[in-house]
Amino acid sequence: MKLKIAVIAGDGIGPEISAVGVDVTKAVCEKFGHEVEFVAALAGAAAIDACGDPFPEETFEICKSSDAVLFSAVGDPRFDNNPNAKVRPEQGLLAMRRKLGLFANIRPINVFGCLVDKSPLKKELVEKADFVCIRELTGGMYFGEKYQDNERAYDTNAYTRPEIERILKVAYEYAERRRGHLTVVDKANVLASSRLWRQIAQEMAPSHPNVVTDFMYVDNAAMRMIQEPTYFDVIVTENTFGDILTDEASVVSGSMGLLPSASIGELTPVFEPIHGSWPQAKGLNIANPLAQVLSAAMMFDYFNLKEEAELIRRAVNASLDAFVRTPDIQVAGKEAFSTSAVGEWIVNYVKA
Ligand code: IPM
Ligand code: MG
Repeated sequence: MKLKIAVIAGDGIGPEISAVGVDVTKAVCEKFGHEVEFVAALAGAAAIDACGDPFPEETFEICKSSDAVLFSAVGDPRFDNNPNAKVRPEQGLLAMRRKLGLFANIRPINVFGCLVDKSPLKKELVEKADFVCIRELTGGMYFGEKYQDNERAYDTNAYTRPEIERILKVAYEYAERRRGHLTVVDKANVLASSRLWRQIAQEMAPSHPNVVTDFMYVDNAAMRMIQEPTYFDVIVTENTFGDILTDEASVVSGSMGLLPSASIGELTPVFEPIHGSWPQAKGLNIANPLAQVLSAAMMFDYFNLKEEAELIRRAVNASLDAFVRTPDIQVAGKEAFSTSAVGEWIVNYVKA
């Protein structure tokens, strides 16, 4: 296969984990005889510094003409806590999602056996957890009409029928391929937008007889996720609820540094870790690159290159078993490895 991959390293720890993601992807492509070309593109604070725009037109063009985007992280403290900042790095991420039409964000949560003790939750609660959050990514409050003056501000949580139908369709496809249990998370006791989600899900449910559909209010779902994470198989929810619940879900898995995601939709798909840019660790070579590496595995899955994806997952598991781990997940008494050292180890495993 011939692949052109846009690489958006972004800000903070982005460039360090991006380098690992690229090296691993390159090694996998060499091993399986795929021709791969990487094209670097700017977004976030890096792009604001270069040209004043967090998602420049040139980056959009590079993304559009690529088969996939390997994205790392955006965000910079220079722009945080400054309500007057006109442009923010995060706007680059949102512009990318909107312009590429990436309406479905797939965030799988599974617990690595050897890391189960890293979760602050009890081992017996989390060890069998295995679910996927399908987060709607281009609608709701993130993109609805906004207003702000000194006295009043609002964000509109708008959803249309086609937007809801297409994300539910993705969720049903996942549920059918997995354990056949779809939980629609909403706040239908209060929000009109949620009531439309629920209505449409109820309309669609009978055409998916192999899937049990249930409904859960988001407040209850937040509680259930840490009380009984094994309850869930596939969760589908709107943009804001999905943002919040997936951070919570990362606690189940033990470390945010482990969770990959895929954003798919109309144009080029994007593969990115769910964690942010961790500015405090920038340049220290300590960030965990595994979420980025596992995002690359999701990219191979997307191309239906299953063996390639599996090899990456095996390499990640082997690195964990060999205690080749960054400080966030290293065990007491063993020396932690740097970001690049973990990357090199995984690359060598792939090549072997
Ligand atoms: C995420 C992030 C983003 C979001 C931020 C950086 C804008 O938290 O991908 O979950 O809120 O969607
Ligand atoms: Mg988030």
